[in-house]
Amino acid sequence: MKILIVGSGGREHALGWKISQSPLLEKLYCAPGNAGTGNIAENIPISPEDIAGLVDFAAREKVDLTVVGPEVPLTLGIVDEFEKQSLKIFGPNKNAAELEGSKIFAKQFMERHRIPTGKFEIADSAEQAKKIVGSERFSFPLVVKADGLAAGKGVILCRNQKRAEEAIDTIMVKKEFGEAGNRTIIEEFLVGKEASFIVISDGVKILPLVTTMDHKAVYDGDKGPNTGGMGAISPSPYIDQKMFDEIINKIVFPTITRMLEEGRKFKGILYVGLMLTAEGPKVLEYNCRFGDPETQPQVLRMKGDLLEVLLAAVEGNVLEKEIEWSPNASGCVVAASGGYPIKYEKGKVIEGLDEAASFPGIEVFHAGTTVREGQYYTNGGRVLNICASEKTLAETMDKIYRAISRIYFEAMHWRRDIGALREEE
Ligand code: AMP
Ligand code: GLY
Repeated sequence: MKILIVGSGGREHALGWKISQSPLLEKLYCAPGNAGTGNIAENIPISPEDIAGLVDFAAREKVDLTVVGPEVPLTLGIVDEFEKQSLKIFGPNKNAAELEGSKIFAKQFMERHRIPTGKFEIADSAEQAKKIVGSERFSFPLVVKADGLAAGKGVILCRNQKRAEEAIDTIMVKKEFGEAGNRTIIEEFLVGKEASFIVISDGVKILPLVTTMDHKAVYDGDKGPNTGGMGAISPSPYIDQKMFDEIINKIVFPTITRMLEEGRKFKGILYVGLMLTAEGPKVLEYNCRFGDPETQPQVLRMKGDLLEVLLAAVEGNVLEKEIEWSPNASGCVVAASGGYPIKYEKGKVIEGLDEAASFPGIEVFHAGTTVREGQYYTNGGRVLNICASEKTLAETMDKIYRAISRIYFEAMHWRRDIGALREEE
């Protein structure tokens, strides 16, 4: 089969790596991909947002299945456009992708169906938002969020009224996140451990993937601004069987079922970002795609054929293919460019990559990289994902940290505490 992966991050390299192991695979394309995907697939220079270009390419090359990594093409309706041309594609259509595309839609959906989430109010103007943060319904800290997609940055934690008003101005007056800031959500601050709960759905049934925990803040100890994710481990240390069942029964099943009832059949990956609070798990956000970096530790634990599973989900038979998982732990540490997630330079020479990648049991998935004449260069904020899977989390992280110490590029930084459990929280 010919398979096209859309995207260029560590997630797409990891998906490509896993799909490459499938006996069903004949030819793998990645659009646009990175230096790492270039080693396992043919990189095609089409942007993930150039939907017409991707449709043309898939039709011309007779691609049998397209797998979409990032959220933007999904919210733009890539699935609808592919399906119009009878091209097979894995992911939710535009209506279903609203769960991620509009935080207001997601919050109101949860409210309608009593799916546990933090208390919230919606504002259409800065004045209204300021009135809400000053009202008795909320106390500090609270969270101000842009409605639309803002690459993980449109969420501002505010400790007092002044900070909240500044956040509202940033989002709604200065429009730092563009149109995403036309409306905002004011939300109660939830306290607990975060977890990423990710399932594959065919729109009716679900197949859960192994649990993971992401580390979103840029610095050790969860300090500094949020990023797309600086590392992840699997399984989540905080989800036992009881919690797992609660998440499935109170959150995941109701979400899939109610979306179906609302005429928004959700096919693809449902990623539920959770806060495990003292009152039980509550939804922070929905994503309509695989996590990045969560996918990296997940594929390392996955036995069997991911491609078969994705095909079954597209056909509406997700339960036909069980996924078998390694009982081992797995982990991923992101090596990022200096200044990420705010301002960073590209084009730095990467050294030591082959040596690190040759460590037994280490997989390096590329994110922002390019290659010229055999030399790798940085080409993005998150550059490399150093990953492993061993019997215990401690062995896994030890191996990753030994390998990452061999890699160097100017101003490279990474968190030293991925997988460390902080009990004081
Ligand atoms: P979101 O994009 O809505 O998931 O927000 C990004 C990150 O901000 C989350 O992963 C949390 O770390 C944090 N966050 C968002 N909403 C809340 C909340 N209501 N309470 C506490 N932390 C939050
Ligand atoms: N790692 C967070 C995300 O994929 O949204």
